Amino acid sequence: MSLTPIGEPRAKVTTSTLLDKKLHHEPITSLTAYDYASARLVDEAGIDVILVGDSLAMVMLGYESTLPVTVDEILHHTRAVRRAVKHAFLIADMPYASYQVDETEAVRNAARLVKDGGAEAVKIEGGEKRADLIRRIIDAEIPVAGHIGLTPQSINVMGGYKVQGKSLAAVEQLMRDAIALDRAGVACLYLEGIPREVAAMITAEVETPTIGIGAGPECDGQVLVLHDILNLTFGPQAKFVRRYCDAAALISNAVHAFRADVISGQYPSDEESYHLPKETKAALETVLERKRAIR
Ligand code: KIV
Repeated sequence: MSLTPIGEPRAKVTTSTLLDKKLHHEPITSLTAYDYASARLVDEAGIDVILVGDSLAMVMLGYESTLPVTVDEILHHTRAVRRAVKHAFLIADMPYASYQVDETEAVRNAARLVKDGGAEAVKIEGGEKRADLIRRIIDAEIPVAGHIGLTPQSINVMGGYKVQGKSLAAVEQLMRDAIALDRAGVACLYLEGIPREVAAMITAEVETPTIGIGAGPECDGQVLVLHDILNLTFGPQAKFVRRYCDAAALISNAVHAFRADVISGQYPSDEESYHLPKETKAALETVLERKRAIR
């Protein structure tokens, strides 16, 4: 494993870095980020791929699903993340209805995320039926990340967030999907919510790096939603989520403590206040004394 030595400048992650990592069996790390502060921390921690996922619809905007989020909203968050990210490869999600309706419109939307948002690639959900569109977007010089398996934009068709690829027919379809996207030239392939055996078969079959979420350890890399690992998503947690800290408790404790300090008069203290310069203070006191004297 080639860890960058401490003190060495980190190289910018590109599509070739991801391919190289697959070839050398070096795990690819990926996390979501939706704003400047969190993206800085994720980038500075050395994560390879930062995804401005459409999960921001639920995590940041409080929607019930990913469906309502718009290209403008993804663009707004991508710009903030772009300002923070110096090393990671930056992917922006194409939201629902930004590529399913019209291919020319899809290419235009993808180009906006790159040109106006600073994304280096866009992510599109769906298998072989998206292969032609993916080719068109790549023709417009935009790398594309594929996303198959449990594709949250298809929630109404899937009938809920269910593990995909459980029957033989479904496994065969997933293999066809993965191969079609690989041939179309995707820069990487996100595999979500599928049995690890299927993810392992896909990973061995395709040339493109696979990045799993709920797809087992044999993928070339792993992605999680940042707010899930920090305990900042309020719903029940999926089986594959590993929580690395309880930021909800940290934030909640800090807010309670601030409130209590303000109410009890302990915040702000004298040290936390600005003071007049000595001369101004003396002059002010003289003025106030004179005013008091003539009253
Ligand atoms: O939107 C998202 O966060 C995603 C990842 C979970 C792959 O698509």
